[in-house]
Amino acid sequence: MIQTRITQLLGIRHPIVQGGMQWVGRAELVSAVSNAGGLGLLTALTQPTPDDLRREIERCRKMTDAPFGVNLTIFPSISPPPYAEYRRAIIDMGVKVVETAGHKPQEHVDELKAHGITVIHKCTAVRHALSAERMGVDAVSIDGFECAGHPGEDDVPGLVLIPAAADKVRIPMLASGGFGDGRGLVAALALGAEGINMGTRFCATAEAPIHYNVKQVIIANDERATNLIFRKFHNTARVAKTGISDEVVAISSREGAVFDDIAHLVRGAQGRVVLETGDLGAGLVWAGQVQGLIHDVPSCAELIDRIIREAEAIIADRLGRLVETSPRAIP
Ligand SMILES: Cc1cc2nc3c(=O)[nH]c(=O)nc-3n(C[C@H](O)[C@H](O)[C@H](O)COP(=O)(O)O)c2cc1C
Repeated sequence: MIQTRITQLLGIRHPIVQGGMQWVGRAELVSAVSNAGGLGLLTALTQPTPDDLRREIERCRKMTDAPFGVNLTIFPSISPPPYAEYRRAIIDMGVKVVETAGHKPQEHVDELKAHGITVIHKCTAVRHALSAERMGVDAVSIDGFECAGHPGEDDVPGLVLIPAAADKVRIPMLASGGFGDGRGLVAALALGAEGINMGTRFCATAEAPIHYNVKQVIIANDERATNLIFRKFHNTARVAKTGISDEVVAISSREGAVFDDIAHLVRGAQGRVVLETGDLGAGLVWAGQVQGLIHDVPSCAELIDRIIREAEAIIADRLGRLVETSPRAIP
């Protein structure tokens, strides 16, 4: 067992969280992660309406007795979804943990905390982690440049970002971006985090509600097979390298290119079609550099069990032996 402030705070057996994932964070995956001793997170905006979210929370409860949470991702948008109503659904349904992500979470953090909900804020920079701490969140999850989704614009990988944050942040911290095995978990703990958050790795599990073709793409891709898109629009996103994401990069690099030139390729609804039908020509596949470490499609229980066993063995055997066998310092 690896126990940290994260396992204590969230009431889970293992310090492993499944981050919010649009179209993927549904009850099947979330309950499987939670049943395996991690923390699964439903993705609020995957549900078309707040009432659908209520039903999804109910469905998840029927599939697990273990703690699970909900991700609320706040996009800057001209016509935003009814965030306050999604938040109300989360509160009314008695959810105990929320992962907030994105822009200006203060209003949500205040309201969730007022209802006794544990809040983890996911961010991509030390300054944002500190600001979340000041806002009163209970933990932060920090995404390094390796991550799938939005790594921010600073381009600092986890190897520097996590210890830099650990030097300043006092609340418990999850390291996120690029984690997929026991080596990563040990590294995260060594860098000062108290657990890991994974996205891409959980997409290639038996319970992830994703077409087989997409899981095979994740397995076939190596660590170089991602594209950074939307750089030009200061909203960088890391996605799997596919024909569509190559096209997005090519169009965006043209002089004077504007978002409308790529809009037809990047719509969220098209990403959903890819995940449901396996048609890679339909839209983007969101995945990170950790693809290079993913070679199979285990169940969530097999995966989490394997990560914990590998991490324990590294700590107790390999690293422990290094210390024991080091020559004694000469006084
Ligand atoms: C398919 C997919 C969809 C994602 N959607 C969201 C989302 O809606 N909100 C969010 O906060 N993060 C989202 N993420 C990011 C993950 O929660 C997590 O932070 C990230 O995947 C960690 O990096 P990793 O993929 O290297 O493990 C998504 C990631 C993936 C792979």
